Amino acid sequence: MAYKLNFREVVYALSEALDLVGIDDIYHGKRVAFMAAECAIAAGYDDEFVNELIYIGMLHDCGVSTTDMHKNLVTKLEWKDEQYHCDRGQMLMKKTALFKTYADTIYYHHTHWQDLRDLPVDEKVKIQANLIYLVDRVDALRAQIQLPLNEMKAEIYRIVFEHKDTFFAENLIESFMHASERASFWFFLEDDALEEYLHEWTAKGSVTEVSYDQLREIAIMFADIVDTKSPFTAQHSFGVASLSLYFGKKLDLDEHRLEILELSALLHDLGKLRIDDAILNKPGQLNMDEKLAMNRHGFDSDMILRKIKGFKEIAYLASLHHETLDGEGYPYRLKGEDIPLEARIIAVSDIFQALIQSRPYREAMSAENAYNILSEMADEGKLDRDLIALMRENLSEVYRRASVPERSLMSL
Ligand SMILES: [Fe+2]
Ligand SMILES: [Fe+2]
Ligand SMILES: [Fe+2]
Ligand SMILES: [Fe+2]
Repeated sequence: MAYKLNFREVVYALSEALDLVGIDDIYHGKRVAFMAAECAIAAGYDDEFVNELIYIGMLHDCGVSTTDMHKNLVTKLEWKDEQYHCDRGQMLMKKTALFKTYADTIYYHHTHWQDLRDLPVDEKVKIQANLIYLVDRVDALRAQIQLPLNEMKAEIYRIVFEHKDTFFAENLIESFMHASERASFWFFLEDDALEEYLHEWTAKGSVTEVSYDQLREIAIMFADIVDTKSPFTAQHSFGVASLSLYFGKKLDLDEHRLEILELSALLHDLGKLRIDDAILNKPGQLNMDEKLAMNRHGFDSDMILRKIKGFKEIAYLASLHHETLDGEGYPYRLKGEDIPLEARIIAVSDIFQALIQSRPYREAMSAENAYNILSEMADEGKLDRDLIALMRENLSEVYRRASVPERSLMSL
């Protein structure tokens, strides 16, 4: 079915997820979006061009899932292997119909102007990519130069000018100078003001129909970003979605419920983007603080997704995948009947899929061993017995579904 959504809200919420990878600095994408938009307005570009830059700005670092890589984004002018996140960003955007047109701009957002200028690339892509590059680096410089505003501004202008015609196009530097003359340009980079600016922009967006397939593609893109965060979780969200859908069909859920189930399953671990790589990939036991940081991800998935009007149920279902029927789960400690069927399905699928994958602290398990663990959990009153019985009856198919790679997800 079609969903009525404000697309600006969808992109804003997803940018929140991407920005969370910064852990302490969770506004990079938003600052880039704001600065790019203001420079484009100063240069006299039309609304469409400006709006595109806000979308691209918010999504430009979608190729970054790990906190280690994110540190480079905001602390260095250039770094080794920086093109990797541009390649990956382009690949992710290309596969998603609603973002496809931005794929090349993302690809070139760290390319020096002296190289980009002469490439056989669309003019608009060149300008937008180089403008994103310029303000993106301004954001990195801002983080490094710890001086009062006027001195910091002067230092940023000096460095940017040093790279005129090599890194950045001259006319784009001029637009940046023009836009950033006002002190308000810099004040808007503060968290509260930035949120206000983008909320106003989001509120101006109109509600349009987005088809399920288009929405699913976006969910798949974000599932991919989450799964890439750790080498151990490759394809995890896809496997959970595929297995959840299998259970949903077996239980005769109607088409709409199946759609909600699949989207919630694909996005269930979105909040994991906020977890430090060191915790996620730790080989040993987590201490109390690390556990807390790890366990809050369901809550964070909820907070990100509920910002999209029309997504409240998906947000809620996604957030419940670590709740257990005995009321000992997290983050809400719901009990029994208070946990909806779809959330129980995702919980069972999540544990099974994780068990058949290797983790930093253990090897991958066989279907039989994974089932035994889930069966024990059902006996302890944690998981839904009917689902575990269904799993037993169809164990080899359950295993196949949970190990499905993304490519085959489409054909299920
Ligand atoms: Fe970047
Ligand atoms: Fe960036
Ligand atoms: Fe999880
Ligand atoms: Fe998970």
